[in-house]
Amino acid sequence: MSTTTELQKDAGTAGTSEETLLELESMRVFYGAIEAIKGIDLTVRKGEIVALLGGNGAGKTTTLRTISGMLQPRHGQVLYRGERIDGIKSHELVQFGIGHVPEGRRVFSTMTVRENLEMGAYRFSSVDSAEMDRVFTLFPRLAERRSQQAGTLSGGEQQMLAIGRALMGKPELLLLDEPSMGLAPLIVQQIFEIIEEINKQGTTVLLVEQNATQALGLANRGYVLETGEVAMSGPAADLLADSRIREAYLGEGAA
Ligand SMILES: Nc1ncnc2c1ncn2[C@@H]1O[C@H](COP(=O)(O)OP(=O)(O)OP(=O)(O)O)[C@@H](O)[C@H]1O
Ligand SMILES: [Mg+2]
Repeated sequence: MSTTTELQKDAGTAGTSEETLLELESMRVFYGAIEAIKGIDLTVRKGEIVALLGGNGAGKTTTLRTISGMLQPRHGQVLYRGERIDGIKSHELVQFGIGHVPEGRRVFSTMTVRENLEMGAYRFSSVDSAEMDRVFTLFPRLAERRSQQAGTLSGGEQQMLAIGRALMGKPELLLLDEPSMGLAPLIVQQIFEIIEEINKQGTTVLLVEQNATQALGLANRGYVLETGEVAMSGPAADLLADSRIREAYLGEGAA
């Protein structure tokens, strides 16, 4: 029903290579008879931050869960470095270097911060202490609380831990599902700054957000999902400037 609008421009990929990491081709995902993703195409290039935007129920989480192998597409393909990965189970996909920070964080609440981080390194035979140091440098708050039970952390700290845990798996591509959900503006800003820093240090990011302004402020490119279809896509700056986006997602009604 919705028309796809590709905003044409070469801008918005500064600092990124042309190498394609992730490609969704005509991907359709069903829950029983219900079609949640109705044939989407999406590309993430190495080095980029790509924002995946859209309202409640648009299909953002379903898309991430399909990329990381928790759901299988009924039609279409998921390609990683040119190789088909749909059909590969999620625990095997970790070996490909795809990290997923799920919606709602889900830290292991009775384990300490340090133990949670160690769990994130499960694809390796041992925990890389240099990697843990890197996480503690990115998140000094976690360093201070390394022996604290994760369930007693604040919401923002739990989000930091969830991201830190994914980083312990040394992902090449990091999938983040609404990291700003339910957090105060100051903490959201800190989390976004850290996502930017993680990207600068070499990790490609696919960022799901309802917080369109901040996500596009960070991203190279963006896609807007509406009821399982890509309604718009293009360089982040163009999407930010687009009046339809401003009206629908940035709370700016037509003047
Ligand atoms: N386990 C499920 N069984 C049946 N339908 C589901 C299931 N999970 C999601 N859906 C449906 O699929 C559609 C997309 O849901 P999804 O969770 O991917 O949206 P979302 O964009 O992540 O939304 P939100 O911003 O609220 O997290 C919705 O209509 C939802 O009701
Ligand atoms: Mg969701």
